[in-house]
Amino acid sequence: MKLKNVGIIGLGTYVPENIMKNSDFEKIIDTTDEWIRTRTGIEERRFASETEATSDLGAEAAKAALKSANISAEDIDMIILATTTPDYPIQSTACVVQELIGAVNAAAVDINAACSGFVYALTMAKALIVSGMNKNILVIGAEVLSKCVDMLDRNTSVLFGDGAAAAVVSEVEDGYGIISQFLGSEADVKGVLRTPAGGTRKPLSQEVLDERSNFLQMKGQDVFKFAVKALPKATLEALNAAGMKPEDLDMVFPHQANVRIIEAASKRLEIPMEKFYLNLNKYGNTSSASIGLALGEALEKGLVKKGDTIALTGFGAGLTYASMILKWSY
Ligand code: ACO
Repeated sequence: MKLKNVGIIGLGTYVPENIMKNSDFEKIIDTTDEWIRTRTGIEERRFASETEATSDLGAEAAKAALKSANISAEDIDMIILATTTPDYPIQSTACVVQELIGAVNAAAVDINAACSGFVYALTMAKALIVSGMNKNILVIGAEVLSKCVDMLDRNTSVLFGDGAAAAVVSEVEDGYGIISQFLGSEADVKGVLRTPAGGTRKPLSQEVLDERSNFLQMKGQDVFKFAVKALPKATLEALNAAGMKPEDLDMVFPHQANVRIIEAASKRLEIPMEKFYLNLNKYGNTSSASIGLALGEALEKGLVKKGDTIALTGFGAGLTYASMILKWSY
């Protein structure tokens, strides 16, 4: 039996207006613009306002994606929203977005695969459409990390930013769409990338607030070592599943964490840096949103055209990693 071809038929992005430059951090912590640029490639990032939550960013990206796909919110029968920074501990952010955009006919669910979340969500959307359970799925990656990292911790605060990206996933014509995917996970038992408290392991308390353990904590070098292996491994697994080689890719959209991680992956994969799309200098690490934000910007610039072969590859807390090969369909 021939399976349905599933692909992205519209993409939208949104970032908050407020720009936080590296030099702004120099006023609050012991850091420098030079350190941040040379160690990460990040120059500035966007921060949500006091009143903006993850759903607000996700809803704006969703509206842009629906416009790009030329379909209405009522046509969406499932919303899968990837985030590590939900609006509320209980009530999915996907349900809040459903209300904000008027997707009255949709089911809605959140997933958390950290910075691999966009690729995980796209993979699940593909499976639901191939199975015949759904027709038009809205995949959203949205984050307000600025409210979940410790602004006084220089090891993390300078790395992250806020943003959202959304894709409408549907059946597409033969020969286009998602060709293959790979999802992986290596349980982070040591907690190299985790928010230790504020959940059910260690609920919020005065002690938690005093020790600031309700904010993300990261052992940067351990994550770096994982990332430089995970990015090439996930991409190669997805390429193998597609029967393709690195040189078959027109472009790669990696998770935008650190330019040095992407340079290392470029060497291991023997794919020139020019094929990796980078915009982390402007937005920092936006976790679930980063791959979609990069793809959306490249589409706007006309850098991705119908028929191009692209890879989307993520890695992050969990530790998760994931990659997807697509033949671009519009
Ligand atoms: N400004 C100035 N100095 C700093 C800063 C800062 N913002 N942050 C750390 N330093 C200091 C450290 O304290 C250390 O000082 P010391 O030598 O006196 O102890 C020194 O700089 C070197 O620190 P390292 O951790 O060795 O720096 P490194 O070169 O490894 O860079 C970085 C740190 C950028 C965090 C890097 O390890 C990295 O990118 N790791 C991966 C992060 C990542 O990819 N995360 C993605 C997943 S995120 C998610 O899933 C939610």
